[in-house]
Formats: sequence, structure tokens, C-alpha cells
Amino acid sequence: MTEFPAIRLRRLRRTPALRSLVRETTLSLDNIVMPLFVAPEPLHNARLPGMSRHTIDGLLRECEELARLGVPGVILFGIPEDKDDEGTGAWIADGIVQQALRAVKARFPDLLLMTDVCLCEYTTHGHCGVLHGNEIDNDASLEHIVRTAVSHVEAGADVVCPSDMMDGRVGAIRAALPDTPIISYAAKYASAFYGPFREAAGSTPSFGDRRTYQMDFGNLREALRECELDIAEGADMLMVKPALAYLDVLRSMRDRFDLPLAAYNVSGEYAMIRAAAAAGDLDERSAVLESLTAMRRAGADVIFTYWAKELAAWL
Ligand code: PBG
Repeated sequence: MTEFPAIRLRRLRRTPALRSLVRETTLSLDNIVMPLFVAPEPLHNARLPGMSRHTIDGLLRECEELARLGVPGVILFGIPEDKDDEGTGAWIADGIVQQALRAVKARFPDLLLMTDVCLCEYTTHGHCGVLHGNEIDNDASLEHIVRTAVSHVEAGADVVCPSDMMDGRVGAIRAALPDTPIISYAAKYASAFYGPFREAAGSTPSFGDRRTYQMDFGNLREALRECELDIAEGADMLMVKPALAYLDVLRSMRDRFDLPLAAYNVSGEYAMIRAAAAAGDLDERSAVLESLTAMRRAGADVIFTYWAKELAAWL
């Protein structure tokens, strides 16, 4: 009956071995980074384990497990003992992240240590920069951000990841740290999907929102301009955040730029699948592998995800 049997694509889907032989996109633990929260007091989150806070001892146990499982890197977020208007806790030599970096570096020298460079967890108002009245002062914020990045590298960070979305931050950090890899959160959107993170990090803005510095979710060309600036300023890798609702942004960046790209599989994406799986509506493992493979297919080299430990078992 079939007129053109030669074009039957189904022939290559018949067995698992055939399917994996011709799979175009694969997921590997080599490209996975686990976000971790470090704080003076632990905070266990049974529903969303990735949103738990660890003390430095707890962090060392997490890092030991991640290293044993073969996860290559972590990105650290700090929740300080005290906050102030300037975010001083972000850059002081004995700040929570700086202490954590020294402890982890000494014990696990081969684990890649990345840090989120931002002020929002450290400011009383919860914004990512310094305020001038009710406005963020871009240039005053840059000084604090550079100081923070330098203090992280002095304490042992291998890679710094500025996430504040101030203009000129990559260039300012690059001038101070000519040899440090910078992953820029270049296309970071003002998003509803950061909800669980802000709870875990204690960084919900006390007034207003982040729409004057994070990007409008209707815009793609603007993201490409953000990327061009960050590349010109010396970024080594570009990040898209969130990931799932922004796969077209990743694809456009992949087509246009040759730098490595990262996707941040954010807390809200994690919470959605966890909740649906807990309700019995879908299978967590299948949904995660499909979502993360889609991020890779869209163009991501590296994926930041709270599922790093599970992935080690699933892959
Ligand atoms: C800012 C920062 C945020 C996230 C990572 N870095 C929150 C924000 O911009 O409000 C969100 C990560 C996630 O939701 O998993 N320091």
C-alpha cells in the first residue's frame, strides 16, 4: 500500500538501541551545576529539598555527596546573619559565602566553585542594588558588586556569576578580575518563577518589584542586546533565566553567539514538577529528563538545576 516506503522515519524508532544511536541531544552530568544555600542556621525543606539552607558543616556534607556522585560544580548563595541597606554582608572577608568558599575549597579542591554575585540576599530592602530614594543607583551598585566578586575570588571561587542585571557589571568585574571566568546572567527576566528561591534566600523585595532592572518577558531582541554588551565587556559564558518559558531566547542566542550558554532551571520550574509529581499527575524523572533535554536542544551547554543529585542516579 505504502507508496514511498523510503521515507518512513519510524524505522529508526523501533528499539531503544536504535533510538539512542540516532539521538541528537543528550544530557550528561558533566554539564550540570547544583545551586546551594548557605546560612548561619539550617532550614530543611522536605517538599523542595533543593531549597533547603545549609550551615557550613551541612554544606560540606552536601558537597561531599555531590563530588562522590560526579556532579562537577556548585553555585553558592549566602543568607547572612545581618542585613543592612548597603548589603555589606555580601563582600566582608568573613561573610557567610566567603567562609563557605574557604571551607569547601580546602576539602574539595576539584569541585568547581561558582558564586552568585548579587546584593539582594544581603540588603534589608531585598533589592539587587543600592537605593537612592526608591530608585536603584546603577553605578553605586556596581562598586558593591565588584567588591563582592573580588571577595569571592579571594576566598576561593573559581567562577563568578553576576545576577543583578545592573548595566556595566561585567565590564566592572572584568577590570578587577582579568583572569576569572565570568558567567553573566545576561538574559534574566523579571519572573514569577523565582518564588520559592526568594523564600529560601530571604530576598523578596520589601517594596516594589525588580522590573526596573530585570527584563520584560515580552522581549527577545532586548535579550540579544544584553548579550552583545556582556560579550563586549568580557563575559565568558551567558545565562538565560528562567529556562523553560524562554527556550526561544536560548535558541536565538545559540544561533547568534559562539560563547558557551547556560540555562537556569529555576526554583518555580522545580516546584511545579515536584508538586505535580507529588499529586500523582506526572512522573518526576520522565518530566525532568524531558525538560532538561529540551534546554540542551534549545542550545544550552550548561544547566543549573536543583535536580543534580537525582540526575546522577537517573543518567
Ligand atoms: C538573584 C537571584 C535570583 C535567583 C538566582 N539569583 C532571584 C531573583 O532575581 O529574584 C533565582 C533562582 C531560582 O529561582 O531558582 N540573586
